[in-house]
Amino acid sequence: MSNDTKSNGRGKWGSRIGFMLAASGSAIGLGNLWKFPYITYKFGAGAFVLVYLGCIALVGLPIMVAEMMIGRRSGLNPVGAFKKLTNRRIWVFVGGLGVTCGFILLSYYSVVAGWALEYTVKSVRNDFANHQTITDKDIGAHLFAEYIKTPKSKSDPIKAGYGSELSTISFYDLKSPKAKKAFLAKLAKAWGEFAKGKPEIYAKLKSNTTASLLDAFQRGDDYSSRKLRLQRSLWVGALFGKFVASPAKVVGWHLLFMLLTMLIVVGGVSQGIERASKILMPLLLTMLVYLVIRALGFSSASESLAMIFRPNFHALTIEAVLEALGHSFFTLSLGMGAMLTYGSYLSKDESLTTSSIVITALDTLIALMATIIIFCAIHAFKMPVGDGGVSNLFRAIPAMFQETPGGNWLTVIFYVLVAFAALTSTISLLEVVVSYFIDERGWSRRKATLLMGSAIALLGVASALSLNAWANFKPFFGKTVFEFFDYTVSNWFLPLGGLFVALFVGWVLPVEAKRDELKGLPAVAFGLWHVTIRYISPLAVAGVFVWLLYQSIVA
Ligand code: TRP
Repeated sequence: MSNDTKSNGRGKWGSRIGFMLAASGSAIGLGNLWKFPYITYKFGAGAFVLVYLGCIALVGLPIMVAEMMIGRRSGLNPVGAFKKLTNRRIWVFVGGLGVTCGFILLSYYSVVAGWALEYTVKSVRNDFANHQTITDKDIGAHLFAEYIKTPKSKSDPIKAGYGSELSTISFYDLKSPKAKKAFLAKLAKAWGEFAKGKPEIYAKLKSNTTASLLDAFQRGDDYSSRKLRLQRSLWVGALFGKFVASPAKVVGWHLLFMLLTMLIVVGGVSQGIERASKILMPLLLTMLVYLVIRALGFSSASESLAMIFRPNFHALTIEAVLEALGHSFFTLSLGMGAMLTYGSYLSKDESLTTSSIVITALDTLIALMATIIIFCAIHAFKMPVGDGGVSNLFRAIPAMFQETPGGNWLTVIFYVLVAFAALTSTISLLEVVVSYFIDERGWSRRKATLLMGSAIALLGVASALSLNAWANFKPFFGKTVFEFFDYTVSNWFLPLGGLFVALFVGWVLPVEAKRDELKGLPAVAFGLWHVTIRYISPLAVAGVFVWLLYQSIVA
């Protein structure tokens, strides 16, 4: 933002590139690098990716134009904007909803952003190289754990971790399905003994099985390279598990990240951010291109790609559709007034459509690249998945870079870039809340940032703790605080906010105003956008909501 922002809290972008950097910086973040690959994984990829792309094109892109339009037309924050453009109070409520969403979203987003800081430190210390810490005993325990769960998840290759190490080793004594079944029956019986207070029988069986699994593993082809990859895979998993189990670390990094965000929003280093973006954004893109090339070099890459892109509509649930829809808002920073606020600093000469198309295309490209990299790596390293994919970004990348010359420094750069991408997003979130208190309550920028930033940081502690100390505290429909916040805000409130934006711009804003805002646009393109924002986008969002509510009532 330009300098005059600092003096009166409001201003114009310093340059066109400044706006584009800030808006794409807001859009590109953990949503692309962490969340999209993780939910794609969780919801079985394939059809999920397709639905997501549909949502981006038919809902996200047109609504981005609409949001920026409201912002530029009014030159105000979400609440003030609706107040100025209409005298109906109901629309002001939409702005209020947006500010509340920004508040909650930032509180848990900053927790994951903090992980990137911890991982930067871990990379500098080169922790990832200590894979020898994983002993044969650990490998045996892992093989046993995989062995026990294999029959249950056979039908779902993604949940089974893309076929575990077990699929590659020959069970010289348990080769036939019959022998396996008999073994499992024996095991079940042993569990019974264990429950009845005879742990010796279970322990003996477990140790015999583990020994034979380990023996089979060691006899197979390419033993040393398979062992190395398995060690790396288990080691990065252990590092992540140990880190999130520490409340002090997770909370500490979250608080530090909030502090960084507040420092920038208060106005001090916004010039630096613009300049840094010009170098770091292209660097992130370059790094992702490099990683995609490496990821496609894994022998299992074609299988991984098929999993991501081959649609399987049978596996598609309405919950997955809601998640894809919600994520299209999350990833483009829509539905709560962030793009509206950024648009309010935009000058009349810029094209809203061109800006929106460029931002959306870049955002989608980065999300797809991250997904390809992570799927290929998880697959190639046969990483076990215990947490539905939440840790994927933090295991796949270090493991891959351990196989790259100079990898530990590349890992440092990578996590710095993740942290920076997250920072340009958290800035936009805090900016929405702050601009509301400046414009509508007459607070100073300093006071708004300090008070609201601290309140958000405090709320975020609950999400940070829900990963460890409060992991079993699941008061909301079996979800932890973290999961509940993310689920309600991204899947329900952002689409709801977007629905209102579409209805407002589609039906309330006068056509002349829209034409004026999209002056350079050919008539056909304008017509296409107008039909979409009036009918298609609102109907798509409302359709998913109604379908889901109907299902939950019937079920
Ligand atoms: N879009 C960002 C991401 O993908 C997150 C984000 C920033 C956001 N600002 C937002 C999400 C406003 C919703 C609304 O990581």
